[in-house]
Amino acid sequence: MRALPLREGWIYEVIVCTSLDGTPHAAPFGTWTDDRVGLEFLMYEGSRTLRNVLATRELIVAFPADVHTLFAALFAPGGLTFGRALTVGAPTLDGAQATVELTVDGTRPVEDAVRVSAMPRRVAVEGDVTPLNRADGLLLESLVLATRAELPGAPAVLPVLDENLRVVRKVAPGSAAERDLEALVRRLRSASSA
Ligand SMILES: Cc1cc2nc3c(=O)[nH]c(=O)nc-3n(C[C@H](O)[C@H](O)[C@H](O)COP(=O)(O)O)c2cc1C
Repeated sequence: MRALPLREGWIYEVIVCTSLDGTPHAAPFGTWTDDRVGLEFLMYEGSRTLRNVLATRELIVAFPADVHTLFAALFAPGGLTFGRALTVGAPTLDGAQATVELTVDGTRPVEDAVRVSAMPRRVAVEGDVTPLNRADGLLLESLVLATRAELPGAPAVLPVLDENLRVVRKVAPGSAAERDLEALVRRLRSASSA
């Protein structure tokens, strides 16, 4: 796991691959590590992935090469191709930057979701890994919005930036994106109240 450039507590967007009856299944999920040893998930009730994970207690995490793979998993799954893992029955995803084979270590209900803790059995890394995290994209969108906010328009933009900041704090606590976005919100707020 230490071969993967993951920051503790940050949430990364990955593809979770599972299989219940031999049919490969893939869906996007967020994952994080608290200790750079195991991976954690919050899986909302009702997904096929959660059903498969609870039934087989095995999963693959594929770190995708691009955001398009997340789109494909949801809306064009026929374009995804799969391989065989070495230590678990779940399928690997072709083209992943990194693949982690995991078994479930523990599960506990959290409101309308299940917190799944999983331990890696094998990690395979293909070249450079740039895990997907939402913070930089949100900062970028916030910057564009801020430059469009004429002073009278600033109050309309602020709730969007507040929401972006909420998400950045969740997915990348302590990041440069968080500091920049906090500064941006402060500037716009003082400009709009002046
Ligand atoms: C980028 C991204 C991240 C997601 N993260 C989660 C997550 O952490 N937990 C969750 O329950 N659903 C998450 N989802 C929603 C699931 O992918 C979605 O519910 C999916 O339809 C589940 O598919 P399935 O029922 O085929 O397993 C995420 C979706 C996207 C696009």
